[in-house]
Amino acid sequence: MPESAPKRTLELEDLALHEGATALLRRSLAELREGQWLEVHADSPEFFERLAAWCRKEGLTCEPRQGDAGTYRIQASGKAPLASTSPTEIAEIAEPAWGLSPRGARVERGGPEFGFTLREKREVWARELSSIYAQAAANQWSSARDIPWAELPKLSTEVESAVAQIMTFLTENEFAALYVPARFIPRVHPHYREVVEVLAMQVADEARHAEAFTRRAEAGGVGLGTSAISGQLSLKTLLEEPDFTTATFLLCVMGEGTFLTLLKFLAENAPDPVTATLARLAHRDEARHVAFGTEHMRYVFEREPDKRQAMAAAVERRSQMLASISGLSPYVHDALVIYAAAGISVPQIRDGARRVLELQREMDRTRRERLRSLGFEANAAAQMSAYHTKNFM
Ligand SMILES: [Fe+2]
Ligand SMILES: [Fe+2]
Repeated sequence: MPESAPKRTLELEDLALHEGATALLRRSLAELREGQWLEVHADSPEFFERLAAWCRKEGLTCEPRQGDAGTYRIQASGKAPLASTSPTEIAEIAEPAWGLSPRGARVERGGPEFGFTLREKREVWARELSSIYAQAAANQWSSARDIPWAELPKLSTEVESAVAQIMTFLTENEFAALYVPARFIPRVHPHYREVVEVLAMQVADEARHAEAFTRRAEAGGVGLGTSAISGQLSLKTLLEEPDFTTATFLLCVMGEGTFLTLLKFLAENAPDPVTATLARLAHRDEARHVAFGTEHMRYVFEREPDKRQAMAAAVERRSQMLASISGLSPYVHDALVIYAAAGISVPQIRDGARRVLELQREMDRTRRERLRSLGFEANAAAQMSAYHTKNFM
């Protein structure tokens, strides 16, 4: 039975509906349950005619109070049904109807359903997301501001060409590292906004790396080097991986993990301060990307230990797809040798080649170490590291 005695009274005095009275009406009505009455006192001209029209639009019943001029009653329809999500607790499954609403907001029911396909926490989550994002936001650098371009010396043509070739190789890898997270961002439900934020920062980092490495190649005067089929084939398999966790594992743990060792090598052996600074700053960013990948895998493996086999299988599958690639592109290999050698005399080349071999051993060692830290057995880690693409990423 609807209660007929008004539950609340609202004094509008001479405030007309078009002057903002509707905001006060809605506020008072929102505090009533369905069927309860709000008593309104108002004396602006033609108030009731306008109120009646507004109530019809809002689907509300209203009437003037008999024998009491300036007093009206409106029956509340109850609050619009809302869904609400907790601001602190992260749901295991996110509802499509929560749409783009921020976590913790009340959401009107009946809204559009979005096609976010990654809407289970275990599919995307990682610990440390907030601190990875905060570090990323604090450590954004600028190619224009933070790189000592004016200090770039004139290098020998051989060494400059090696730098330009390595920058060419790095840039295509940066594009792959940009496109992979970018592909997944629109699929992640915004309820897991921390994941989206970290991936978005990763995309911005890779855009900066690609721009800065290209600029370094062009700054030396010899222009960009050669892009090898082997490198492109390897990166294509990364871009085409449809599963988020597998793509994150291949890119952020195996690929970017290997790149950490490469960037450290490039920083330590750099022939000029520009290349050294670029490699050092990119290394700092990549360390965050690897941290995200590692934390995501930890979260997944804690819940689904068998996923380790799936990841091992993915690495092996990728190596079979790349069976036609015998090793690192000769362009990149030779460029690394000359880069480390700092020249092309016989003793320099012998020394450079030795260092590149050491670099590849160090890449293998750190990959195995990283896999061991994720709970892979020593044999499995060694096998996976050996299967990893010879093109590093
Ligand atoms: Fe990068
Ligand atoms: Fe990266």
